[in-house]
Amino acid sequence: MPTARVPHVALLTGGGDCPGLNAVIRAVTLALKRGCGARITGIERGFHGLVTRRVRELTEPDVAGILAEGGTILGTHNRCDPFRWEGQDHSAAIMAFVRELGIDALVAIGGDGTMRLAARFGPLGLPVVGVPKTIDNDLHGTDRCFGFDSAVAVVAEALDRLATTARSHGRVMILETMGRDAGWIALEGGLAGGADAILIPELPFSLPAVAELARRREREGGSLLVCVAEGVRIGGEEPAARGQVDDATAQARLGGVGQVLQHRLQPLVNCEVRSTLLGHVQRGGTPTAFDRVLATRYGVHAAELVAAGRYGRMVALQGDRVTSVPLADVVGGSRPVPPDHELLRAARGIGVLLG
Ligand code: F6P
Repeated sequence: MPTARVPHVALLTGGGDCPGLNAVIRAVTLALKRGCGARITGIERGFHGLVTRRVRELTEPDVAGILAEGGTILGTHNRCDPFRWEGQDHSAAIMAFVRELGIDALVAIGGDGTMRLAARFGPLGLPVVGVPKTIDNDLHGTDRCFGFDSAVAVVAEALDRLATTARSHGRVMILETMGRDAGWIALEGGLAGGADAILIPELPFSLPAVAELARRREREGGSLLVCVAEGVRIGGEEPAARGQVDDATAQARLGGVGQVLQHRLQPLVNCEVRSTLLGHVQRGGTPTAFDRVLATRYGVHAAELVAAGRYGRMVALQGDRVTSVPLADVVGGSRPVPPDHELLRAARGIGVLLG
């Protein structure tokens, strides 16, 4: 009797890292091994590993003990678009490599850029299942990306720490968060850390209103905690940026709005205004318990999709249910904070200044 061929599945992590990547790698590997005895090949450094042919087998011992580890054991790359890397389209060479290895399917763990690139391999003969990652939580088609909860926890802790020193000195303390064009990290982190003002790209804000609130706090002998998302535009200007990087997404690297705000606010108030840029601290370190569980659920569901041959889909959380959506619906979309979102109502309800 002919024996069934063991499926061979490749796994990569693309784009910026975030807490929970290793938890997904572990869950996909364990679920596929236990479910159908699959062979798993890890691609090193995202799509760059497919260009440079850097791969390694993943076994159960390889993924033991990595659940709580930050970063990604496979490494990642946020600049490599294999369809135009270093002036060349590498897709034909990659497909030849995939056939040489006998790979049947790819599980791509990443954000919008990774999903967009991965989806292009399906029609070339490498079917794909996606797993949504980004601390920004702005991927279309899912209510949550793993990594977001961990970033929010870091923002909340930073605000807790800034609050005590702000109170001691009667200062305005500004905390700048990541998030690109979406305000989710600043909004949830700001709420969790008790910010008095939360400024997000989705809502225009008034500098005089922030200054007025700061002066009121001054008169009352208090302090002010401002949480600002990096994508905020001050007075309609472009968001503050550290430069443009020629990468798969060709996006400006944002950062610096907190300092701009500090300089604009200082002349309008008597107390001292200081700013802190939290930066990559939000992306590093161990995932929260919520992210470990979500990453595990996503990894297992991705393995189930592969085992069932349901390709061209991304796993997703809708409400409290893990499901999947067509990759084509995810690519190119975004998920900004809707103006009528309940979190905004909650913030306004307790007097947080939002605009
Ligand atoms: O998309 C995740 C993110 O952390 C954004 O919040 C941030 O703007 C960007 O990546 C930073 O990218 P890099 O690590 O390339 O500076």
